[in-house]
Amino acid sequence: MPKTNVVAPDTSWFVHDRFGLFIHWGTYALAARHEWVKHNEQIPDGVYEKYFKHFDPDLYDPQQWADAAANAGMKYFVITTKHHEGFCLWDSKLTDYNATNTPCGRDLIKPMAEAFRAKGLHVGFYHSLIDWHHPHFVIDNLHSMRNHPDRAKMNESRDQKQYAKYLHGQVRELLTKYGKVDVLFYDFSYPVMTDGRPDTTKGKGRDDWESEKLIAMTRKLQPGIIVNDRLNLEDAPGGWDIKTPEQFMPREWVKVDGKPVVWETCQTFSGSWGYHRDEASWKSVGQLLRMLIEVVSKGGNLLLNVGPTGRGEFDERAMDRLRGMGEWMKRHSRSIYGCTSAPVGFLTPQDCRLTWNPESRRMYLHVFAWPFRHLHMDGFAGKVAYAQLLNDASEIRFNEKPGDAAKTLTLDLPVCKPNVEIPVIELYMKD
Ligand code: GLC
Repeated sequence: MPKTNVVAPDTSWFVHDRFGLFIHWGTYALAARHEWVKHNEQIPDGVYEKYFKHFDPDLYDPQQWADAAANAGMKYFVITTKHHEGFCLWDSKLTDYNATNTPCGRDLIKPMAEAFRAKGLHVGFYHSLIDWHHPHFVIDNLHSMRNHPDRAKMNESRDQKQYAKYLHGQVRELLTKYGKVDVLFYDFSYPVMTDGRPDTTKGKGRDDWESEKLIAMTRKLQPGIIVNDRLNLEDAPGGWDIKTPEQFMPREWVKVDGKPVVWETCQTFSGSWGYHRDEASWKSVGQLLRMLIEVVSKGGNLLLNVGPTGRGEFDERAMDRLRGMGEWMKRHSRSIYGCTSAPVGFLTPQDCRLTWNPESRRMYLHVFAWPFRHLHMDGFAGKVAYAQLLNDASEIRFNEKPGDAAKTLTLDLPVCKPNVEIPVIELYMKD
């Protein structure tokens, strides 16, 4: 990596806001059986084309999407401008394989960015480095044509450099035509193939994407943009700004070389990212809220995904989860925004998660399993000035024993669990 004079972007808005919406939308929404369907079923271009020909999201209303996200308490969003299938949601001048040439006939990104911005959300673009449609993307072991008998022959005419040029050109379009872009989520690198196949080709990484150049351009066109960690520039200075564990809850604050870093986990409601009609593994509102709380208690962000339908809507299952989370966030977002993990020395009581707002100096105790009737908080005695339930600001009285070595503070809770998904006790800490 050439020496970069990159000033690390300001991530303060990002770590304050904590909760964002991921949107995976492309022609795979019509197949409705995973955004990797082209790879999974090894569908040739000529067959896959039917989804392009029938892509007609007549109910698409980005204002409704932005409302749903804002009402859920989300503060930023990240849209797939292009996923691995190669289809582009915007009016790219570099390919015909974009939304304007489908029955929908228009650029879908512009009104989306505008609608979310108008609602006060930060704007993020996910952009796939992988492209199973571009004629110069060299067929590797992840490609939808990996088992084609003429693979080697097909690769003879492919020039990955041409693809890199296309990739850079498209990112330039995205970063110059849609106003301020706050986040770029590149996806993804696989320099070493680990699927156990004979390694007839290598995977793809920084050399294939020309990642150094790509990130330099990204930062130049959008100063202050926050870039994720999938360009295969792990060890390059300025090669990434945030770590992005996927479908995975880290045990603790994510660290690199022993130092805590800015991190965001992305998660789905069910299993796939694109709209999946038949998937039954949807998480409950309670599970999703516990996920959000746990992430914040470890100093991270949650990017939660919706896969809109081919008609352009968030389906009922997604709306139900978003509404449920919003219902809780309406009264409890104070324990999420601006919060992080509790300072050392404050032990997390059993079945609880702690978050801490260093500015307001308030600690939030999230009670995952409502006890009868006392909750013991070690390390807290002498440090709390006042305590209340967050949902209704009703006082919670507490006791502490002078001279207690464990410095235990005991909360005196009502017998009945408050009628909210996850009760939170707000503790005003002494200075
Ligand atoms: C991936 C997958 C994918 C999804 C994404 C989200 O690596 O390829 O389909 O878009 O991660 O993080």
